[in-house]
Amino acid sequence: MERKDFIQKFAIGGSILLTTPLLFNACSDGNDDVMDDEENGQNGNGIKVDLNNASFAALKDVGGFAYTGNIIVIRSGENAYIALSKICTHEGCTVTYNHANSQLPCPCHGSVFSSTGAVVNGPANSNLKTYSVKKEGDILTIT
Ligand code: FES
Repeated sequence: MERKDFIQKFAIGGSILLTTPLLFNACSDGNDDVMDDEENGQNGNGIKVDLNNASFAALKDVGGFAYTGNIIVIRSGENAYIALSKICTHEGCTVTYNHANSQLPCPCHGSVFSSTGAVVNGPANSNLKTYSVKKEGDILTIT
């Protein structure tokens, strides 16, 4: 193999090795919602939550909450539901919900979020992503 050929093959191989991890990272960043949709078999139409499903029994009561994919769904009122990312923006722990103060505490390092997803207490410094929820019969559609 001549030097020129070696350099050309090395450059192509090196480019592939360097860009492949970036491509995989790009696919995972910001595509968590798609993963959620796929997990729920509702790609493109939002995530469906059947309130009759035992997994969502906690949503029968005001103040109850349940998780679907990376989303926490909260029954905040008689006919009011909210959905937010369940992933704490500090280091990724799963937030919970405290109906007494309508806040979402993170058990790992003490961050607290409001029911609109806003940071109330750090160390998290960015808000939880919010989703819209539409109720039709016993089905919630989260988009
Ligand atoms: S991961 Fe939630 S406060 Fe650190």
